[in-house]
Amino acid sequence: ANPPRPALLSTDEKSFAYTTAKYRWPEIITKIIKHFHQACNSLNPSEVDKIQEGKEIANSLEILKSQIQENKPLIPIEDNEADIETWIFVLNTCFKDKTWYTATWLFTECYLYRRVHSILVKTKHWNNHDPYFHQKEEVFRSSSKTIIEIAKRIDELIFPPNEKGNDDFDSNRLIFHELAQVSLWGNATDLSMLPHLNHDDIKRLQGTGAKYLEEFEKNILANDLDEAWTWISKFRNVRIDFVLDNAGFELYGDLVFADWLIQSGYAREIHFHAKSIPWFVSDTTPQDFNWIIKTLQDEAFFAASESERSFLKKLTGRWQSYVANSQWILTSDYFWTSPYAYWHFEEKAPELYANLCKSQLVIFKGDLNYRKLVYDCKWKTTTPFRDAIGPLANAKGAPPVLALRTSKSDVVVGLDKGVEERLNPIEEDWMYSGKYAVIQFSEGNK
Ligand code: F6P
Ligand code: MG
Repeated sequence: ANPPRPALLSTDEKSFAYTTAKYRWPEIITKIIKHFHQACNSLNPSEVDKIQEGKEIANSLEILKSQIQENKPLIPIEDNEADIETWIFVLNTCFKDKTWYTATWLFTECYLYRRVHSILVKTKHWNNHDPYFHQKEEVFRSSSKTIIEIAKRIDELIFPPNEKGNDDFDSNRLIFHELAQVSLWGNATDLSMLPHLNHDDIKRLQGTGAKYLEEFEKNILANDLDEAWTWISKFRNVRIDFVLDNAGFELYGDLVFADWLIQSGYAREIHFHAKSIPWFVSDTTPQDFNWIIKTLQDEAFFAASESERSFLKKLTGRWQSYVANSQWILTSDYFWTSPYAYWHFEEKAPELYANLCKSQLVIFKGDLNYRKLVYDCKWKTTTPFRDAIGPLANAKGAPPVLALRTSKSDVVVGLDKGVEERLNPIEEDWMYSGKYAVIQFSEGNK
């Protein structure tokens, strides 16, 4: 299939791509530099080599930041990581002589995080260090109240007092809607956007229960949840996949949703796809996945009463048994941190693609996954979702896809006529503010 054009570019001064390159990336790199200074300061002065390396990392990051700020040409990445050939190939074939602003936004943003990784991975003492972990940890801790509320809520849903629960089709439909939305709105709090969100914004975005969801439902500009429910409720004991986005609170919402999918009998196994390397600040790595299950049981991590703890204990006990029994399967693949849009999925990652095609529903979380699904282009907002994801909807054997995404970039498809016209005059930033969301479904082509 011919990939669509034109791609989003940071040269367009009215775009969020531009704001990102000009303001957000330098802020994000500045934070990593600060982190290295702090980390070095807190080391024992006898760790001379490690401190020295940490300072060198900070210097390299300063250079990277100035290359962006001066809109310099993109340079080759040099390291021995498993995906290095891909980066060399794409850079040489598509973006030779391009700069931080003139190459496509999707490429430059992925390239940025890969450059940061390259700086760290070549060191002796910091090659396994996740420079964003402390941020993920901090926000997760500050979400404790909502985490506990959700733990209570999932307990009620799985063990309903009226004993009806699991076999009641109507209540299952409502629960599916509720938990899909908890998983969806978790995506609003990704850390690469955090400089623009204050604490109240975050609190506002986290919540549970019908009232909360009702208030937010009007911000879902296209909502295929009913279609997705009609699809999944036909099955029992199937495989469902989550292509994960952010760690911490968002991941927690995904796991709660996945927990119910198993308990209700719709899913037999859930495959979670994490990033192989630290990515877009808050994306989930395998370490983050394991960390969250461990930390929810850690009494020292956040304050909770005895009874609150008992909910967390029950929930993490179940989650650990899913992992032990291979009902929850965690994997990672370098394709997820490649610069490729998912229009190239089958060609560039044939094995992973074939594996995903065995799934009865592949849930793509978040903004970056959405950008990759729709090729990060200037689509008309009324373009049908199935057209915008191209081969992933239409190729023979394509899997069923559900995108749960809060909108944080300059591309949205699948809207009714008139939606864009209504929002443009009142909220200039509606496409990328994170306030609005889309839930979009494609049945695939099995
Ligand atoms: O910076 C580009 C971007 O896609 C934003 O639009 C978004 O804030 C961030 O990266 C990642 O978002 P998410 O974690 O939802 O993929
Ligand atoms: Mg993310």
